[in-house]
Amino acid sequence: MLATPKLTQIQELIAGSSREELVWLSGYLAGVVASQGQSAPIQAVQTAVATAVEAPAAPAINKITIAYGTETGNSKKLAGDFAAKAKKKGINAKLVGLEQYRLGDLAKEEYFFAVISTQGDGEPPAAAKKFYDHIHQGSLKLERLKYGVLALGDTSYPLFCKAGEDVDHQLHKAGGQRLLTLEKCDTDYELQAGKWFETVLQQLSAPAAAPSAAPAPAVAARPTGKKTYTGTVLANINLNDRGSAKKPTISR
Ligand SMILES: Cc1cc2nc3c(=O)[nH]c(=O)nc-3n(C[C@H](O)[C@H](O)[C@H](O)COP(=O)(O)O)c2cc1C
Repeated sequence: MLATPKLTQIQELIAGSSREELVWLSGYLAGVVASQGQSAPIQAVQTAVATAVEAPAAPAINKITIAYGTETGNSKKLAGDFAAKAKKKGINAKLVGLEQYRLGDLAKEEYFFAVISTQGDGEPPAAAKKFYDHIHQGSLKLERLKYGVLALGDTSYPLFCKAGEDVDHQLHKAGGQRLLTLEKCDTDYELQAGKWFETVLQQLSAPAAAPSAAPAPAVAARPTGKKTYTGTVLANINLNDRGSAKKPTISR
C-alpha cells in the first residue's frame, strides 16, 4: 500500500491526465517493472492506473472513420452497428455515408473502414460513385491510411462484391495499409460482418500500437552492498615466508 502523500500525488496525476496519457503511463510503468523486477510500490501504482483506465479493454487508437456506400440500406445499417460497437469500446467512431464524405479528407485519415455493396453489373451504389471515381485517380496518395473494407454482395451475380474489391484494391494501390483482408459477404451477412468488425476492434487494440511499445526507461544498476574505496599503493611488501613460490597480487 502507498503512504498517503504518495497516493495523493498519484491520484492528482491521474485526475489531471487524459485517457491517452494514462494508457501511456500504464505501459511506461510496465516497462519500469520489467526492467527492475516487481516491487510493491510500483505494483500498487500500476494497479491504480490500470483500474482508472480499464487497461485490458483500452484501444490503442481513439479515432476511426466508418464510411458506407449503400443502395437499399444494408451497408448503412451494418456501418451504424459497427460505429456503436466501437463507441462502446471508447473509440471515437465517425459514421458517414460515402455520398457525404469529403473526398479531401481521405488523405488525412489514419483509420478508415468502408462498408460497401455492389449494384448493377458490378457497379458501386450510385451514392458512392463520386468516392469510387476519386479513388481511381492515378495521382492519389494515401500513405498514412490504415484501412479495411467489408463488401456486401450476392453470389448469384457474376461479379460478386466487385465494388468492394475495387475499393480495397484502389486504397492499397494509393499507398494505404490494409489492417485486415477484404471481407466479402453474401446475402446472409450479419454474423460474418459482426465477426469481421470484432477483428477490426482487436486489431485496433493490438499491442503493436499500444503504449507498451514505449521504450522502457533506463534504470540505474541496483547497489550490490559492496563498498568501494580508492587509494594509492605506497609500498609492495611480500608477506609470504622465504622460499615460498607465492607472489603477492595487487588488485587496484
Ligand atoms: C439491382 C441489383 C444489382 C446487384 N448487383 C450485384 C452484383 O453485381 N454483384 C454482387 O455481388 N451483388 C449484387 N447485388 C446484391 C447487393 O449487393 C446486395 O443485396 C447487398 O446486400 C445490398 O446492400 P445495400 O443495401 O447496402 O446496397 C445487386 C443487387 C441489386 C438489387
